[in-house]
Amino acid sequence: MPQVARLLKIMKTSDYLVIGSGIAGLIFALEVAEHGTVSVLCKNAPDEGSTRYAQGGIASVTSPLDTFQAHIADTLEAGDGLCNEEIVRMVVEDGPERIEQLIALGTQFDRKDESQDYELGREGGHSARRILHARDATGAEIHRAIFARAAAHPNIEILPYHIAIDFITADNPDARGGKEVCGVYALDMAANEVQTFAAKLTMLATGGAGKVYLYTSNPDVATGDGIAMAFRAGARVANMEFFQFHPTCLFHPEAKSFLITEAMRGEGAQLKTLKGKRFMLDYDERAELAPRDIVARAIDLEMKKSGHDYVLLDISHRDEKFILDRFPTIAQRTAELGFDICKEPLPVVPAAHYCCGGVISDPWGRSDLARLYVAGETAHTGLHGANRLASNSLLEALVFAHRASRHALAHREYTDIPKNIPEWDSLDTVKSSEEVIVSHSWDEVRRTMWNLVGISRSDKRLNLAKRRIEQIAKEVKDYYWRYQVTSDLIELRNIITVALITIHCAANRRESRGLHFNVDCPAHDDQNWLIDSVVHAADISPV
Ligand code: FAD
Ligand code: SIN
Repeated sequence: MPQVARLLKIMKTSDYLVIGSGIAGLIFALEVAEHGTVSVLCKNAPDEGSTRYAQGGIASVTSPLDTFQAHIADTLEAGDGLCNEEIVRMVVEDGPERIEQLIALGTQFDRKDESQDYELGREGGHSARRILHARDATGAEIHRAIFARAAAHPNIEILPYHIAIDFITADNPDARGGKEVCGVYALDMAANEVQTFAAKLTMLATGGAGKVYLYTSNPDVATGDGIAMAFRAGARVANMEFFQFHPTCLFHPEAKSFLITEAMRGEGAQLKTLKGKRFMLDYDERAELAPRDIVARAIDLEMKKSGHDYVLLDISHRDEKFILDRFPTIAQRTAELGFDICKEPLPVVPAAHYCCGGVISDPWGRSDLARLYVAGETAHTGLHGANRLASNSLLEALVFAHRASRHALAHREYTDIPKNIPEWDSLDTVKSSEEVIVSHSWDEVRRTMWNLVGISRSDKRLNLAKRRIEQIAKEVKDYYWRYQVTSDLIELRNIITVALITIHCAANRRESRGLHFNVDCPAHDDQNWLIDSVVHAADISPV
């Protein structure tokens, strides 16, 4: 059967198309599903994404001992001058209502034994206890609750193992990016065929991009697909130089950068050298609870000074029952690897954790492309500035997914599902017999980013990274258009695009701020650089 005819048969339509089944995608899906049909694509199992692995919790002002003003001030301070203050205020003040929404959807946060008050955790950069959590597995609890609702909703169809490849766009002179999104092409990994999805409105919620780096706390799905897809389609992307490295991931060959939550430092865990010296007070008076950029850089420096591969995180001075009750997931996982956290310190290292930049979104979650919303870690909303405050990202995802759904429902100017959508054309491509090129390039991109565009940067390293990744981009571009797509190839193309944008932002910013530290310009330059790094399609040639 000719391939075009076969593909036409599998064009799927819905009122709303959601790419991603984490907190951002599912909250949007649940809200719009009251008014139309929704298809949710996810490229792995529906619970595979950063949401499920979130440990510490979600920041919001729920205690009488805390104030909106304090949460706003902490967020602005961590953001080091680049937060959008109006957005910060909006997110913080909307927080309690969004938390109530999560609870109404079935999420159970820990409460104090003796009352119905929430048991609040503390993390770096927060001046008060304000982190709602479910032990040390908050994301799993949130995802359990919202996924159960979405899976049971008659208007929502969840399609696992469908990896979106590219947006299908049409010209729209009214949109800032000159285009509108009509749907996506996605590879159905089980059937091994590219399908076409068309919708009135699309929500992009593909999560983060930690896999661009060799060592990351992120799950395998975090390859920045949404950022790369939106960029290729003409949306602007911002602030990609601000990649957050989490200070404490377990150092163990089998642990794959398993996270040791910051909440553990919030409960008194101390960072020590291998000789047992506590070192954070040498760097910041807030010690282990300084913002992440400071703690991660301090660990990096201590490792460079000593030549050791890791430092130690020690909570063994706390009561055993408390430790096991508060951190059961970590206690169990580390016990499987031979550690007893109640009796000994854990070896830890920083790893790539959170992408503060992303696809530029307005206060209603609208991207530059008409009919395309964006929320969650894929979006750049202005909340985080140059460094995200711990546990603000689940909150941001909730607030923006909700606002986007309100906007989508209130503005029904797009009543038709786009027609005349071109089919995916793979007729000139063949199956590759050289897949080693893909795996080799994957490794090279991630290693280059880790070694040359990591916690501490220099002009020389950034130039080298640019040249190297541009060369890989050329090779992979040629390969991409000749061979049939596979999920590895789709993701490789995306991590290269995200790497190029990150290097572009990092090389252009002639100062150090927040998460971006360049030894050749180590100071702030408020006169010239109190601005976002905005990248347009013309700045980088896409793969
Ligand atoms: P995700 O939850 O990552 O979901 C992304 C979805 O997109 C997945 O379903 C994936 O399959 C899908 N997808 C991706 N690409 C494609 C594609 N091409 N086609 C189809 N589907 C695709 N934040 C906090 O606020 N508090 C915390 O305690 C906290 N702890 C964390 C701990 C860890 C280990 C990690 C990794 C992150 C943590 N974060 C925390 C960050 C937070 O979890 C994430 O920022 C947030 O969950 C992102 O949600 P999301 O909906 O944007 O994306
Ligand atoms: C953690 O639990 O340390 C992660 C919190 C976050 O990334 O916000």
